[in-house]
Amino acid sequence: MPAFWAWFVAAGTIAFVIWCVWLISWAGKQGPQNKEDEDLVGHVWDGDLEEWNNPAPKWWLYLYFITIAWAVGYMIVYPGIGAFKGVLGWSQEGQYEEEMQAAEARYGPIYERFAAMEFAERVADPEALELGRSLFANYCTTCHGSDARGGPGYPNLTDNDWLWGNSEDNIVATITHGRNGIMTSWAAVLGSDEGIDNMVRYVRSLSGLEEADEAALTAQPTFTTVCAACHTPAGTGNTALGAPDLTDATSLYGSSPESIRTTIVEGRNGVMPPHGELLGEKRTKILAAYVYSLSNSE
Ligand code: HEC
Ligand code: HEC
Repeated sequence: MPAFWAWFVAAGTIAFVIWCVWLISWAGKQGPQNKEDEDLVGHVWDGDLEEWNNPAPKWWLYLYFITIAWAVGYMIVYPGIGAFKGVLGWSQEGQYEEEMQAAEARYGPIYERFAAMEFAERVADPEALELGRSLFANYCTTCHGSDARGGPGYPNLTDNDWLWGNSEDNIVATITHGRNGIMTSWAAVLGSDEGIDNMVRYVRSLSGLEEADEAALTAQPTFTTVCAACHTPAGTGNTALGAPDLTDATSLYGSSPESIRTTIVEGRNGVMPPHGELLGEKRTKILAAYVYSLSNSE
């Protein structure tokens, strides 16, 4: 804050407190102190219920003075008057740093212990998984859902079907660096509307959703020359590219003819953002074990 405004705010704050003191002392002295008839303000209810012009009770005024004293004390101790930092030297950033350090001191050794475990051991450790569950709830549920079952475009992490692989290294890499599934539009390659329709039906036949008739089979050569580069000739996918298995019952974007058509015509571009910097290595390892356990626990 520039010095001028700091002083401006400080002067305003102090003047306001002084004004409050004055106002309350003044208000406390208003009105007659003795009950005389002429001190009735003249309001009458129900024929005989009248209102005295009495000052506020003393205890009520004292409450105001106590709150003012509290405010003055508060502004001496904490930052509140312009740029004055308060005698305690408290600051939001300082408190955040302190809490982070306290959390690190408290949880650091626990994270350390779990991160040092072998992957298989960590996956079988209930405490590590419980910690993983709470990390997941904090950082991952916005996209993958609180039950980790995802939704269209957000993979289900409980079905043991992996776009990018399920080794510890795979999952840690996914969380640390993020992933970007790139499926471009193939409308131009497929040419006609009919060609696209045939491809949609051919893709659906790969997972047994429909029987491939002659027309659908006309898409097979294109699949083998174009799509197979990423999805493999049999359509089983490639975890190095994040290309989904098209032969299984799960699908990332839905298996209706419409959604497969949209995928082929418009392309898809699923982005898992990197979390390495946010989480650090140890918490990432604990999360990787938790994610793996979701579809691989006994
Ligand atoms: C902003 C949304 C978003 C957040 C937050 C997010 N993810 Fe993801 N995640 C995605 C998307 C989208 C994909 C799929 C990327 C693709 O299409 O290849 C994905 C993919 C994954 C995969 C790969 C699944 C597979 O089948 O290989 C894992 C594992 C994963 N996320 C774990 C996590 C964990 C753990 C967190 C929390 C630290 C997290 N994600 C947070 C959106 C998100
Ligand atoms: C360059 C590699 C590449 C090629 C070539 C490719 N795909 Fe894909 N495909 C992907 C990737 C990667 C994804 C996942 C996109 C995402 O994660 O958002 C995908 C997703 C899909 C999906 C959605 C699957 C689901 O689970 O929802 C379908 C269907 C599909 N591709 C069909 C095709 C067809 C048909 C062709 C050929 C015309 C083709 N792909 C060519 C890489 C490719």
